[in-house]
Amino acid sequence: MRAAAFTDLIGPDGVSVIDRERLHPSPGEAVVDVAACAINRHDLWILEGDSAMVDTDDLPFVTGLDVAGTVRDVGEGVSSVEPGDRVVLCPNKTCGSCRFCREGPENLCENFSLYHGGLAEVACVAADRLLALPDDVSMTTAAAIPTAYMTAFRMLRRADVGPGDLVFVPGATGGVGVATVQLAAVLGASTIGTSSSAAKLECVQELGLEHGIHSTDIDDIREAVSEIGAPDAVINHLGGEYTALGQQVMRRGGTMVICGRTAGSDSTIDVPDLFLEHKRIVGSTMGTQDDLRRLVGLVAAGDLEPAISETYPLEATGEAFAAMAARERVGKFVVKP
Ligand SMILES: NC(=O)c1ccc[n+]([C@@H]2O[C@H](COP(=O)([O-])OP(=O)(O)OC[C@H]3O[C@@H](n4cnc5c(N)ncnc54)[C@H](OP(=O)(O)O)[C@@H]3O)[C@@H](O)[C@H]2O)c1
Ligand SMILES: [Zn+2]
Repeated sequence: MRAAAFTDLIGPDGVSVIDRERLHPSPGEAVVDVAACAINRHDLWILEGDSAMVDTDDLPFVTGLDVAGTVRDVGEGVSSVEPGDRVVLCPNKTCGSCRFCREGPENLCENFSLYHGGLAEVACVAADRLLALPDDVSMTTAAAIPTAYMTAFRMLRRADVGPGDLVFVPGATGGVGVATVQLAAVLGASTIGTSSSAAKLECVQELGLEHGIHSTDIDDIREAVSEIGAPDAVINHLGGEYTALGQQVMRRGGTMVICGRTAGSDSTIDVPDLFLEHKRIVGSTMGTQDDLRRLVGLVAAGDLEPAISETYPLEATGEAFAAMAARERVGKFVVKP
């Protein structure tokens, strides 16, 4: 079977299609014919050699977390799915025995890691991580859901976002950014988002963004946000200088949730402002399998339509990463092996 592998950690040119041995499921596993697999910034970090998780000794490396497809074969002891089932994968890998696996939420598992391997014709996964996909949810749409939408959903819930709230999303045009805008709308909240591109902001406004700020200048953005209002929540996947900005603009008692570091791994926090204004800054990673179940339900009910930028055949996987790196498009990039 063919897979799009990272054979060099040099960016999009480091992706090649390779042949791999046929996969057979071990007990508890299922083999899935991959119909669609979305890519994430997480994969691009790896491809650019900017992830502690993969180095040149691990090559060729097949990434791909967000798998949708059809079960081809199941291993011993698997009863939750059977060949022919349409499924989407929750990419969480947890130990099942730590206090967070016992008491929840599972995404806090002390041994948390992620499934990689979906950028291939066939993927071998833990069967109990597969969710049934309703017939009216396409494979491409399903693949767009897991990482971006689970992460955004969990962040919004950690900030207790509800009807009438104002949510600030710096970088509103990518996977997590668009997911936040769309899910905030589902929760009855309104959003302020930023982008370096006016055209991309317009697209996100069509997807539900109320206030678009076309700027990358922190002072300009601060002023523009303050003219709109003091956000109840900041959903921050950029890190860097956007953390201080988020703290400055959010309301007294507001919450900023951070899940990423696209704009930098170091941020400053104004400590007196934090305690005197009763603000909360919390970290968050991924979501739970039950979050994914709810999200699939929202999509099936027509309440959420994940934004897809473009689909690519397996041999054009490098182009999908180049498009993500170029920052010219809105929505998820989905590879269709
Ligand atoms: N902890 C977790 O569980 C988790 C899960 C998912 C993602 N993440 C993290 O969240 C971040 C977003 O992931 P994603 O997959 O949504 O990425 P993505 O689709 O590539 O995000 C693109 C967005 O980031 C903005 N952006 C890109 N580079 C920027 C820069 N240098 N400065 C400011 N803004 C920049 C873009 O703004 P423009 O419109 O201006 O191009 C766009 O809005 C990543 O850091 C990722 O690792 C974490
Ligand atoms: Zn655990």
